[in-house]
Amino acid sequence: MRGLMATHDLDRATIDRLLDRADHFAHRGYGQLLAGSVVGLLFYSDSLRTRVGFEVAAARLGARTFVVLGARHTPVMAAAESALDAVRSIAGWCDAICLRHPDATVPRAVAGLVDIPIINCGNGEDEHPTQALIDIYAMRCLRGSIDGVRVAIVGDLVGMRAAHSLVGLLSRYRDVFIRCIAPPGLAMPPQYLADLDVRDVEESTDLKIDDVDFVYVAGLPRHTQADVSDEDRARLSITRDVLRQARPSMRVLCPLPRIDEIAADVDPTPAAAYFEQSRLGLWMRMAILVEWVSRGPQPPVSAN
Ligand code: CP
Repeated sequence: MRGLMATHDLDRATIDRLLDRADHFAHRGYGQLLAGSVVGLLFYSDSLRTRVGFEVAAARLGARTFVVLGARHTPVMAAAESALDAVRSIAGWCDAICLRHPDATVPRAVAGLVDIPIINCGNGEDEHPTQALIDIYAMRCLRGSIDGVRVAIVGDLVGMRAAHSLVGLLSRYRDVFIRCIAPPGLAMPPQYLADLDVRDVEESTDLKIDDVDFVYVAGLPRHTQADVSDEDRARLSITRDVLRQARPSMRVLCPLPRIDEIAADVDPTPAAAYFEQSRLGLWMRMAILVEWVSRGPQPPVSAN
């Protein structure tokens, strides 16, 4: 497969190679492995960490980057330029594109049109595979292994794409337990659980976290179609009180940003691992770039 579209495209050997490479970069250093490469960062919807994170990862590996934010739409244009046309033009000049787009179909459609790797940095409400790779890298760093891990994923599990991708990656490992905790009406869509080899998946609307290694706070964004009641927000927020029911070794992860899903006074507690998770993201983004950018041009794949 050319590029990184979705976690179900990744087998365990590839995931483990990425985790090992990230570890290598973190502990044994790295060189200018991508010197001479040019990576395009095309973000058609908001991003801080993913966009800047890939920019920094590319810089550390010696690659140059350029950033495009949103579609061009001037008064003389009747409509915004299509992402497909824009990415297709730009793909002729660079070695890889990191792409975020609000339309879930766009990254795969683009990948079918160009002969460079496309790295999906978030496609609508569908997937966010680079974030999920960072998430399991953080789990492995903090716990030692992914096999046997027990995770509670909390939030809007319909709309939070990183949660979909995380389930996809966890399903590649043995004896994994996942509890999907969501407000009523926002449970994990079955297609993200259906074909997965997860031994034990539990669905809940209650914040039960006493028997897990990680609580993954996927997020409850405000002012979306799926906005939840203040009662549900409060009931599903991670507070110091909630942490009292957790194992001492339990760690809270979050792809960030957060609004009030994790109380600020949780930050100084030993359970708070989300800024460490964010820091570790550098090494995984570097591993992702080396995996896909250094492969060079390959033939187009079908858009189907
Ligand atoms: N975690 C994440 O995707 O953050 P950004 O939206 O800031 O890129």
